[in-house]
Amino acid sequence: MTTLGTPLSPSATRVMLLGSGELGKEVLIALQRLGVETLAVDRYENAPGQQVAHHARTITMSDPAQLKALIEAERPQLVVPEIEAIATPMLQELEDAGVVRVIPTARAARLTMDREGIRRLAAETLGVPTSPYKFCDSLAELQAAIDGGIGYPCIVKPVMSSSGKGQSKIDGPADVQKAWDYAMAGGRVSHGRVIVEGFIDFDYEITLLTVRAPDAAGVVQTQFCEPIGHVQVSGDYVESWQPHPMAPAALQLAQQIARTVTADLGGQGLFGVELFVKGDQVWFSEVSPRPHDTGMVTMATQWQNEFELHARAILGLPVDTTLKSPGASAVIYGGVDATGIAFDGVAEALAVPGVDLRLFGKPESFVKRRMGVALAHAADIDTARRNAKEAASRVKPRKA
Ligand SMILES: Nc1ncnc2c1ncn2[C@@H]1O[C@H](COP(=O)(O)OP(=O)(O)OP(=O)(O)O)[C@@H](O)[C@H]1O
Ligand SMILES: [Mg+2]
Repeated sequence: MTTLGTPLSPSATRVMLLGSGELGKEVLIALQRLGVETLAVDRYENAPGQQVAHHARTITMSDPAQLKALIEAERPQLVVPEIEAIATPMLQELEDAGVVRVIPTARAARLTMDREGIRRLAAETLGVPTSPYKFCDSLAELQAAIDGGIGYPCIVKPVMSSSGKGQSKIDGPADVQKAWDYAMAGGRVSHGRVIVEGFIDFDYEITLLTVRAPDAAGVVQTQFCEPIGHVQVSGDYVESWQPHPMAPAALQLAQQIARTVTADLGGQGLFGVELFVKGDQVWFSEVSPRPHDTGMVTMATQWQNEFELHARAILGLPVDTTLKSPGASAVIYGGVDATGIAFDGVAEALAVPGVDLRLFGKPESFVKRRMGVALAHAADIDTARRNAKEAASRVKPRKA
């Protein structure tokens, strides 16, 4: 039996979010609704999630000493990573010492913090189909990997990066140097290590939200949401919709791959499994052991959105992954570099049928920073996509 307490009292169930962006903010709201005491951590002040939590802390989460000091001082029951750039070996140490439980597990956070751990696990240990790949530490190694079998076209990505940063496609020998330089400039830490992947000419790609949550008997069961289709522009999500229609054989294979990978990562919580599909063929790309940006669409489409599913699963509560309505999401970018921006056109956006909005409240805007999202439900995904994009385009961020 799961017991929940009263926040700000000795009985409180206390949860710490490591990373408090737009995804963390929604997880925090879901936890707040269950009377959980929440602590939002980020690298800068007034991050979106910090604005809705009981407590806010600002630290460098990639610094093991700072992370350890904070967790030991606060002693939350659960630590929930929202981002990849965390001192995960320290989380492992604290979990091993019984100080805290990491969601879904410290090992999962460590393996998914860079592309190498999770790719080797999936392809080499679990035998899941992936694109052909090689890890390289120099331009010469990159060229050798391409010539030695990866071939053209291929994709180069820094081992440590997200949202497409430092990622580029190589169509022929003339692009190799440029791709290497771009990866070196775009990686999160200057390790100088990249993955080069053979280009998969997929028909479409999906995120398969996969939830590991205990049933009434306390046994962890795996449940799937309907597949989410999405469009990425230079490695960054701009639009998603649910349900993405899939042939039964491809869906079955996708679920089997997602089950295999998430079962190995273990623990409880929601995972965003990224897959490429061509006909009945399915390739594993990567997985987030936490809610996924493309899954924001579930705020318009599911009875329990991905954040509520995560909150319930980590607390050991039952989940319901059923779809409520087809729907879509469309990203609202900052469009300007400025702090404390204003949003015009919100009423016009909300006048589009079936539309809702999330404005994340980020203190600082960049031209390409995600500042909000438009959500739409409709009778079919084409209408929902059109309406979400229309609503997003009506929101006009500007300098205040
Ligand atoms: N091997 C590949 N073949 C074809 N397309 C690819 C391949 N690898 C990546 N892509 C495209 O680039 C997108 C981003 O790649 P990936 O998910 O690896 O990067 P990321 O930086 O982790 O992105 P995010 O953080 O937004 O998930 C994919 O969703 C897909 O559209
Ligand atoms: Mg991705």
